[in-house]
Amino acid sequence: MDAGICKKAKVDDGLQLTKDIGSGAPVYLEEVQDTEGSTTLLFSLTEKVGALAEALSIFDTHRVNLHHIESRPSVEDSENYQFFVACDNQRGGLKEAIVALKQKCKDLTILSRNPGEQKNEVFTLVPWFPRKIADLDRFANQILSYGSELDSDHPGFTDSVYRARRKEFADIAFHYKHGQPIPRVEYTQDEIKTWGTIFNELTKLYPTRACREYNHVFPLLVDNCGFREDNIPQLEDISEFLKDCTGFSLRPVAGLLSSRDFLAGLAFRVFHSTQYIRHGSKPMYTPEPDICHELLGHAPLLADPAFAQFSQEIGLASLGAPEDYIQNLATLFWFTVEFGLCRQEGQLKAYGAGLLSSFGELQYCISDKPEKREFDPTITAEQKYPVTEYQPVYFVADSFESAKVKLRNYACTIPRAFSVRYNPYTQNVDVINNKQQIVNLTKVIKGDIDLLEEALVKCRNIPAH
Ligand SMILES: [Fe+2]
Repeated sequence: MDAGICKKAKVDDGLQLTKDIGSGAPVYLEEVQDTEGSTTLLFSLTEKVGALAEALSIFDTHRVNLHHIESRPSVEDSENYQFFVACDNQRGGLKEAIVALKQKCKDLTILSRNPGEQKNEVFTLVPWFPRKIADLDRFANQILSYGSELDSDHPGFTDSVYRARRKEFADIAFHYKHGQPIPRVEYTQDEIKTWGTIFNELTKLYPTRACREYNHVFPLLVDNCGFREDNIPQLEDISEFLKDCTGFSLRPVAGLLSSRDFLAGLAFRVFHSTQYIRHGSKPMYTPEPDICHELLGHAPLLADPAFAQFSQEIGLASLGAPEDYIQNLATLFWFTVEFGLCRQEGQLKAYGAGLLSSFGELQYCISDKPEKREFDPTITAEQKYPVTEYQPVYFVADSFESAKVKLRNYACTIPRAFSVRYNPYTQNVDVINNKQQIVNLTKVIKGDIDLLEEALVKCRNIPAH
């Protein structure tokens, strides 16, 4: 039921890197094709005169052509520079050049989106994934189907006006770039009527069926973002609200993303959202996610800090993960963010968006009919599920915090030669795979602990009320 979770990932193998990360210089994006004819290297050199020329001469010696070169200050070590080189792998001795280069540089990584290339005994291979938030532009339009393409059993299939409207929404998303405000949409009276029908029915159920965190946030969305029966809220307003609460933001999407790409967005606290509404002939049914599902199902909990962190954990676990683990993470997403139940004060409550946006399933899910099991990522990740009917099995979490801890433990079992950490200051994902990075990270954490210690001392001095 989610905009991004589907079975088969189709990815291209392009690469993109930014120049001057962290230097404050204007960032530009250079698109480089990591095709069969091109291999991309990332390496660091100690700052000394002529170091780059010396390194590049290795390629010359081995008769390897370079397609592209970029340099930037090293993120890991301020005394080093980092170089990004795309080289021709069709002619010359690339393998020999890499072996020689490895003797010269502090670290060397090959970036690749092709899992088949990710086994090599000579050097470190890191699969390509978005390293900075603007990299999401790279795959935002690598969609599996355009938003105006409807199946023959879709309620709007024969409605040319609806199909034209869907294309308008798809075009908005198609042209969207990171950092831009999400274009506002003037919804028609018919669209608002559809929203109003759903809004009225669902809001009757939330007080007793939705989890505590959902009911805590929902009134704030009414006050701040125009959640009303007679108004379809704007994605931009909700995105700004979420940024204030948890740093999450929304991004319009033109169609269905692969699971890998959708989950990668979560690593940056970006939620890919549809903007169109379902066909008005069946307001209580939609075969695909629409704005009712996104705004009534997903948006409120993305404002909850613990839920936001849980969602981001799934995203971080997905970066560079093997394809079978991507499918497992998509299944975990399905049984939590989409169809999760939790236990609060001895009662089952819904926190999954697929439940909170479905009048029928929100009542069914906590009845005695479906089976309930404890959330356990190793078991949940293997559970099969239907996509066109109510779920026969739901998984119950004790809390978002405990679900997050379980998920983090599960993520440790994913075979990756590196760890990733999101840096909220730069909105980059840092790959941690060498000692110097760990030392640097330790300094950052030590700074935070010093701050906590200072705050604790100050709190002790505050008289108790
Ligand atoms: Fe969803």
